[in-house]
Amino acid sequence: MSFAGKHAIVTGAGSGIGAALCRALDQAGAHVLCTDVDEAAAEATRAALSSRAGAARLDVTDAAAVQAAVDAVVDRAGRLDLMFNNAGIVWGGDTELLTLDQWNAIIDVDLRGVVHGVAAAYPQMLRQGHGHIVNTASMAGLTAAGQVTSYVATKHAVVGLSMALRSEAVPRGVGVLVVCPAAVETPILDKGAVGGFVGRDYFLQNQGKAYDADQLARDTLRAIERNKAILVKPAVAHAQWWFARLAPVLMNRMAMRFVAGQRTRQGDRSQSAAPGSG
Ligand SMILES: NC(=O)c1ccc[n+]([C@@H]2O[C@H](COP(=O)([O-])OP(=O)(O)OC[C@H]3O[C@@H](n4cnc5c(N)ncnc54)[C@H](O)[C@@H]3O)[C@@H](O)[C@H]2O)c1
Repeated sequence: MSFAGKHAIVTGAGSGIGAALCRALDQAGAHVLCTDVDEAAAEATRAALSSRAGAARLDVTDAAAVQAAVDAVVDRAGRLDLMFNNAGIVWGGDTELLTLDQWNAIIDVDLRGVVHGVAAAYPQMLRQGHGHIVNTASMAGLTAAGQVTSYVATKHAVVGLSMALRSEAVPRGVGVLVVCPAAVETPILDKGAVGGFVGRDYFLQNQGKAYDADQLARDTLRAIERNKAILVKPAVAHAQWWFARLAPVLMNRMAMRFVAGQRTRQGDRSQSAAPGSG
């Protein structure tokens, strides 16, 4: 499959993995619409690309707006070849600290955002007889550890949605890929902390160094070309995924130890940051 001349929409394109996907698609000759709830960020991504690229504000929690973005590309180009449902947020911290508003916000963006992208793009792709849907989940969609419980819940749902959809879509000409990276070097590692949680510490404890977003974007295009079902990166995450399937109860015990260790480090940090301490 060549990406030259293909028409693509990327959500969450103003930063991190979404911006990297836009760069990779543009370099491969695609027409990419960079969208983000942060319009200036989407525009900044577009500004670094060729004149084929466009930018628009798009909040993935707004189903009508997602449908309108798909319709606009189809009106202009006659088709939509690639839909990247990538926008996401994270909350990290003890689950009892999470408000219902925070639960609803992550479900709205990380799960409903993907549902809105699928509901808008998939019927069009069936009508045109081809297309590819790419959903950004996470290793948190394949394994489960505490303190990111809401994130794990939405990402497991995105993996399930993607694999189920794939089983009916591929025989009808539409590809579905779910991308499940471990830690990638993007601003999300420093977002969404509740209590003493430190995302960078949590997500990098078993990985050392975060994976490169541009490398992940190139891996993603290769996985689309090969019509792969799941992309897991980096290689060390494969071992975790394999272990989680082989020994889920043991893996859960290890998650308990990991979370306990994290809680201790967070407690230590908040004590040393307390006024009058140290
Ligand atoms: N970076 C990682 O370690 C990592 C690992 C696994 C999965 N992911 C997933 O990758 C995806 C991209 O994350 P990232 O790491 O690039 O993070 P990021 O924070 O750098 O980028 C996320 C982008 O999504 C946008 N966004 C947030 N809410 C939105 C909404 N309602 N509508 C549209 N856009 C919205 C933000 O404005 C931001 O530009 C997410 O789904 C995330 O869960 C990230």
